[in-house]
Amino acid sequence: LNDSTKNRGSEPAEPLPIVLRRPRAGDGPAVTGLIAASAPLDNNSRYCNLLQCTDFGETCVVAEREGRIVGWLSGYRPPAEPEALFVWQVAVHPQARGEGLALRMLNALVERPSAAGAVVLTTTITETNDASWRLFRAFARTRGSTLTKTLRFAREEHLGGVHDDEFEARIPLPPTPHHDTETDR
Ligand SMILES: CC(C)(COP(=O)(O)OP(=O)(O)OC[C@H]1O[C@@H](n2cnc3c(N)ncnc32)[C@H](O)[C@@H]1OP(=O)(O)O)[C@@H](O)C(=O)NCCC(=O)NCCS
Repeated sequence: LNDSTKNRGSEPAEPLPIVLRRPRAGDGPAVTGLIAASAPLDNNSRYCNLLQCTDFGETCVVAEREGRIVGWLSGYRPPAEPEALFVWQVAVHPQARGEGLALRMLNALVERPSAAGAVVLTTTITETNDASWRLFRAFARTRGSTLTKTLRFAREEHLGGVHDDEFEARIPLPPTPHHDTETDR
């Protein structure tokens, strides 16, 4: 990432823009690496990330700067609740945080054609993940919506006693025009 902020000749240091696009199979290893570097996210198997990058690619987003993946968002339309858009994980490389990238990926996702018909965005978050609560509250605010929170998966009953409770956040989605704002289909 340092290369993107280096001076080029006499030009002032200017970070190159971050481009959002759908993932492809070749992104799998970089996505797995980014998640591993993004505590407290659970690591998924490489195979899981590959399926997300391919079969679920229409509801996943990668963010790229100078050919390097600095952001990842995974999601899907739950078969049991097709009018929802579920966000599984959001990860931003430590060197790209604080620039609004996570919020930008969420907004790009809900504007994609693959989000058409979704009336609510859902996700689950552990109680202590302040950054995540702030992110989804900011998303709700910027879309003129609200966030409700209820327990979805309980530590003892659903998570083997080894993972904190997961609370579901539900954010109703106001009607949104669906179009491609990304560079690459
Ligand atoms: C959470 C994460 C994705 C945020 O990425 P980001 O690009 O820096 O976030 P943004 O710049 O878009 O910020 C969006 C909002 O979240 C808030 N936020 C971001 N990181 C925060 C932090 N560490 N602590 C508190 N608030 C934070 C921002 O202040 C902003 O809210 P505001 O508009 O009310 O000020 C990133 O820190 C990350 O990858 N963390 C590790 C993985 C993780 O916990 N993911 C959570 C979702 S599954």
